[in-house]
Amino acid sequence: MTTFDVAKIRSDFPILSRQVNGKPLVYLDNGASSQKPQVVIDAITRAYSQEYANVHRGLHYLSNLATEKYESVRGIVAKFLGVANEDEIILNTGTTEGINLVAYGWAMNVMQPGDEIILSVMEHHANIVPWHFLRERYGIVLKWVDVDVNGDLDPQAVLDAITPKTKLIAVTHLSNVLGTKVDVASIINGAHQKGVPVLVDGSQGAVHMPVNLDELGCDFYAITGHKLCGPSGSGAIFIKQDRMAEMRPFLGGGDMIREVTKDTVTYNDPPMMFEAGTPGIVQTIGLGVALDYMMSIGMDKIAAYEDQITQYAQQQLGALNWLNIQGNSKTKGAIFSFTLSGAAHAHDISTILDKKGIAVRAGQHCAGPLMEHLGINASCRASFAFYNTMQEVDALVDGLNLAHELLS
Ligand code: ALA
Repeated sequence: MTTFDVAKIRSDFPILSRQVNGKPLVYLDNGASSQKPQVVIDAITRAYSQEYANVHRGLHYLSNLATEKYESVRGIVAKFLGVANEDEIILNTGTTEGINLVAYGWAMNVMQPGDEIILSVMEHHANIVPWHFLRERYGIVLKWVDVDVNGDLDPQAVLDAITPKTKLIAVTHLSNVLGTKVDVASIINGAHQKGVPVLVDGSQGAVHMPVNLDELGCDFYAITGHKLCGPSGSGAIFIKQDRMAEMRPFLGGGDMIREVTKDTVTYNDPPMMFEAGTPGIVQTIGLGVALDYMMSIGMDKIAAYEDQITQYAQQQLGALNWLNIQGNSKTKGAIFSFTLSGAAHAHDISTILDKKGIAVRAGQHCAGPLMEHLGINASCRASFAFYNTMQEVDALVDGLNLAHELLS
């Protein structure tokens, strides 16, 4: 067993000691959003109560202080993602904004009608809908690559889908439904040999494993702060400098300009060119504290501990022969989506678990094409974090036994 003081870590998260429906909270909805450690809550309180002003605008003490705190987060994100050049980090509200920026700022500038984007069938809607906009409005063609019966994405199948018209491959690092970790390194290497850029949706991936983007070499990598123990409305996207040079601004407003006259406008240099308007100042400061917190534990330690949780959950949930688990990849992360044999609805299962204090997500998980591929309308999803325990896996199993008894 890896040494990992989960009791100490749990004590950092005040919400984990509360009760729900008279039972100790078992929070297994981390794929949707993670809980926040006290250091992040304190940072938010401190920022608003002692250190708040707008950033990049004032010459007064508080504005300089807030700007310094806010701007330091660019470096923290760069360190977290293994990026040497912090100017390749754009701070934003999360993965959805990041991928929309790539669609509007980059893809619309470099693509022609008939050009192709390759997507895997297990993408989250945030990595689908912006590309549908381009399909609907500009005649961009979306090409889909299926996952196999285990929920694995074969990198070669992705590379085989490349044609002379392919301008982008956009794939998840870790499926928010199946838990599959995708071999994005092989996709990036193969795609770059054919001159095709790669966007990685790191919304789930960066939460569960160490990421080194300078080594990985992808062109775009988007993360979301609220899944990384940070505040909602925080996030970032890494964009390689060569790709940034091919972009036009997307959102226009204050901060992203150099000069505006009645007839002309010139823009700030990247990354500021892509950060219009007053940003989520306090959210971003909170994100910096959250990432520092996760790095102080160590992403390698988090990954190793979560592997133990995954193996234990696979064993315990796998023993329930009436439970259909979607996704059985050898590289599965700590995300378990499932249905019960028979007609039990995911919402009913979730409601029964909730009565036992267990929080899971039920529904389509923002992954319509994957649901179609799996031939199901909805599933329940238990998604674990580094502060979950083996006992919580047991509590889930007990809850599912009850749901099975009541619903079958
Ligand atoms: N993307 C989040 C999820 O998978 C909301 O639940």
